[in-house]
Amino acid sequence: MGGPIRDVLLDAPVKDLDFVLEGDAPRLARQMAADLGWELLVHQRFGTATVTHNACSVDLVTARREAYQAPGALPKVDAGDLSEDLARRDFSINTLALPMFQAQPEVIDEQGGIADLEKGLIRTLHPRSFIDDPTRILRAVRYEQRLGFTLDSTTEGQLQQALGQGCLDSVSGDRLRHELERILEEKLPGRALARAISLGILPAIHPSLTDQTGLARLETKSGNENAPEPLAYLAALVYHLSPGDAESVVQRFNLSGQWAEVVRDTVALRELESQLSAVELRPSQIVGLVGTFAEAAVASVAYICDSKLVSHRLGQYLGQLRQVVPALDGNALLAMGAPPGPTIGKILAKLREAKLDGLVESEEDERKLVGTMLAGGVDV
Ligand code: CTP
Repeated sequence: MGGPIRDVLLDAPVKDLDFVLEGDAPRLARQMAADLGWELLVHQRFGTATVTHNACSVDLVTARREAYQAPGALPKVDAGDLSEDLARRDFSINTLALPMFQAQPEVIDEQGGIADLEKGLIRTLHPRSFIDDPTRILRAVRYEQRLGFTLDSTTEGQLQQALGQGCLDSVSGDRLRHELERILEEKLPGRALARAISLGILPAIHPSLTDQTGLARLETKSGNENAPEPLAYLAALVYHLSPGDAESVVQRFNLSGQWAEVVRDTVALRELESQLSAVELRPSQIVGLVGTFAEAAVASVAYICDSKLVSHRLGQYLGQLRQVVPALDGNALLAMGAPPGPTIGKILAKLREAKLDGLVESEEDERKLVGTMLAGGVDV
């Protein structure tokens, strides 16, 4: 039901199967997992369970009704019947169900989902939908852009009203990040992000998120064989931010690990663009400026930045320079009489610079240079 029926009717690939049960879904899921020897994940509080085997996953949910006690908070959930379960959903196109135990099953369509699929509309089921669950605001643009649909005009009005009431303010960073991740996993994330900017959604989450130019530039690269990776879209979104705003975006979405790194590195790299566009810049200087930044940030800035020269140099870094390492290693240097300790690292760094700048080519060249350094001819 829900997504899979929608996708079948649209002739789109079905990802996961979702089953609604008027009864105890976790119980059935346990039995199914035991019978098939599959893995089981139960969310008892929501009456849901997922049974998985390799890449295949089946969701089983207990038909439920939901009561929202506070905007943005998770709902209180009670068992309900199928109609109540369909009526609590986000958009009409996600309310389609197919009965499992009928000889000739017909799609159950209590909320006008099929008509909206035909019209290409994303439509909520009731006026409080976005207030009850503001994450639906991001889901709306994700579906809209994925399916090439448009927001129904009443739904768009509700969305704007919910934004005007500050409904996203009460949503936790983790929930926002989850929705952002789902957008970035789409085929064309740039479009959904740009739409989320023009509808005022991202600016409502953080006022600095207003610039679409980076996303538009990246979008022109999607679909080709070097399609940008999802994190590059995050980089494009934050490219124009000041370091202070970037930090506060990291906090608002509660980003960590690679995600936080990409945001910080993208902005830091942009700040280095004037240095990277200097007329004379040796390869070792490029590596010196760029070498510590996350790859997604470098790749993204290479796509987005205004300067062809900077773009070329970042491409050079990713394509060649970062792979350049000396032929000699620490053990070879020790064997040549270099003292153990930090000097080894310094000599290796000098060797790499020399190799990057074409001052040494062969291992023999490197040995000669090390000889000069050890003899005190070069400062290490
Ligand atoms: N749902 C909802 N409100 C939310 C999240 C989910 O009403 N905030 C409902 C939707 O009806 C959706 C169903 O729960 O169809 C399952 O959610 P999800 O797995 O996120 O949706 P899919 O349809 O599987 O989305 P996708 O096609 O992106 O996988």
